[in-house]
Formats: sequence, C-alpha cells, structure tokens
Amino acid sequence: MKVIVKSPGRVNLIGEHTDYNGGYVLPCAINLSINLNFKYFSNESFVTSDLGYSMIFNTAEKYKKSENHWENYVLGVVNELKLLKGDVENFHCEIKSSLPSGAGISSSSALVCGLIAGISTLNNIELNNEQIIKLSRNVEHKYIGVLGGIMDQFTILNAKKDKAILLNCDNIESKYIDLNLKEYELLLLDTNVKHNLVNTEYNTRVKECKKALEIINKQVGKNYSNLSMVSIDDLIKSKEILNDKIYRRALYVLNENQRTVESADLLEKGNLSQFGKLMYRSHYGLKNNYEVSCRELDYLVEISQKYDDVLGARMMGGGFGGCTINLLKREFTNKFIEIIQKQYKLNYKLDLGVIIAKPEEGLKIIK
Ligand code: GLA
Repeated sequence: MKVIVKSPGRVNLIGEHTDYNGGYVLPCAINLSINLNFKYFSNESFVTSDLGYSMIFNTAEKYKKSENHWENYVLGVVNELKLLKGDVENFHCEIKSSLPSGAGISSSSALVCGLIAGISTLNNIELNNEQIIKLSRNVEHKYIGVLGGIMDQFTILNAKKDKAILLNCDNIESKYIDLNLKEYELLLLDTNVKHNLVNTEYNTRVKECKKALEIINKQVGKNYSNLSMVSIDDLIKSKEILNDKIYRRALYVLNENQRTVESADLLEKGNLSQFGKLMYRSHYGLKNNYEVSCRELDYLVEISQKYDDVLGARMMGGGFGGCTINLLKREFTNKFIEIIQKQYKLNYKLDLGVIIAKPEEGLKIIK
C-alpha cells in the first residue's frame, strides 16, 4: 500500500501566544506544504528528506533519543503511536517540502501531523483529529522540548480554502471566518533569522504566563483556569504584586485576546483597514510587552507603515526571527517587495524571503 500525505503550513492573522493561554487565535492553512510519500518497507524503516536528511531505523527498536534533532520528530511519532496502539510496521517515507523551516509558518507541526497521518494510515490505526492533535503535541512537548499550544495542529487538520478559523483554545470551539481580502493579499516576509524555539524564550513565556495566572488567582480569590479569561479589572487589582515584567506579559495576552475576537468580527464585515490597525497593535504588544520580536522583524514592520497600500503588518508565530505577515494591496506587492528586499539587504546583509500566502485546505491523505 502507498499513502501520500499533503500537510500544509499555516499563517496566523492575529492571536499570537494566546493558544497556550486558552485564548483565541485566527489562523489559516496556506498553499505551501510538506508532502510525504509512504510505503511499507521490509526489515527496516527509511526516511529521506529533500532538506538533505535521511535516517534508517527499525520500528521494533526501543525508543532512544537521537543526537540529530530532526530524527526525534520521526522517532517521537513512531514511539507515541506504539504507546497508543502497540506495534508499528516498518515503512519508507520520502519527504519533500515547499515550507521553509524556522520561518514561523509551522513546518514542525506540518511534519509531525503528516507523519502521524501517514504512519497511522499505513498501519490501519484509526485516529480522529482530536487524537492526532494530542499525539502531535506530545511529540513536540516530550521529544522536541517545545511547550507549544494547539493552534498549528488544529489549523493544519481543519483548515478550509479561503477561510480563517476563529479558535477558542480553551474549549476548542471554532468558527470559520470568510476571508474576503478583495484587492488585498497576504505577503510573508521571511527575515531568514532562524529561530530555535527550544533555545529561545518560548518556554519561558509559557512559564511566565502560568506564574501570572497563579498570582492573580491568589490575589483576587478566584479560580481562572487560564490567563485569557482574567478580566482586565482583576489584572489591574493584581498589578502591585505582579512584577513589572509578568504584568506586561499578562497585559499583552488580555489585549491580544480581545484584538483577536474583534478582528474576526472586522473580517466578517469586510473592514480590512481596521483589521490592519489591530495587526500593528499586535506587533507592538509582542515587541514591547511580550518581548518576543527582534530588530529585523521590527524593521520590516516599521518600513511597512510608511505605505498606505499596506494595511497592516506584524511578526508572526513564536518570534525571535521568522516572518512578518503583511496585508497589502495586490497591485503594490511587487513594488513593495523590490523596495523592502533592497533595504533589508543593505541593513542586515541578509536575503529577505517572500511568500504570497493563499488560504488553503488542511491536511489531505491520498491512498
Ligand atoms: C508557535 C507554537 C504555537 C503558538 C505560536 C505563537 O508557533 O507552535 O502553538 O504558541 O508559536 O502564537
């Protein structure tokens, strides 16, 4: 049997670092993907990637962490499937990707979801989307060491063409939002500053938010189950005992959550220019209060503000590098790319990657 899986990347329109705080996010899957071609293979498993990686192992072996970071995605998926369902047959998997890695467009979740979908199909293991999300999160938390939320996996599995998903990450209720961008489009500018969430402050932010929640609950005598639910009044009441840094983290999360709900409403009403303004506010919150941006991302956002044809821009994803997402007039895109690539190269001696992101369907399995 042969199985082909097409696992897309995602963009997030707004609602950054809110998922692990039980808040709202507004992502969609895009037209770039990781494609995985699976087939049974006797005796041993063989995985190759067009990024130059390859590995040989046996699914019957006991799990052992690999020195090679990339291999842990595959070994983690196989081990989690074995823990869930017993044996997993050996397989051959050829991976081809049009998704740049480390750009904040979720190449790791696309890979993990693609591996889970492919290997489970090959082994007749039936998993629903909820189980795939849970498994995928386990892999990223336990084997990769990033304490990420569920935005990426949920989007990869549930996305629809030309729609964004307003997802409540607390109760997992979701609503599709029509993305009618009219004469505008979404442009990603890739700083080519490679972030490594494991080695950065991502996990620290997760812990800071947990801490903020504990302190606020104690101070106001309530039992909020996550930070996004805290009222602004209760945050202000706790300001004195939260240190300035933790207070700013929490303030950012509450504001961003509010912006995300407002954005979904604005997009439904077709009010793109107001939505663009919220994108900028999101960026400055991420920069000043949440402190997950970097100078290259800030530079790209600042330049974009000089042009009326750009309605909004902000850093996207975990941060510390990766992409900005820009909402701009289609007829201005080429000119804008030309200007900004030149300026960026001059200032940072780095090439600026460009991707026009089109909202696409989620993961597909072809047998
Ligand atoms: C990464 C994580 C997501 C989310 C974003 C920030 O992409 O994988 O779960 O937390 O960062 O919004």
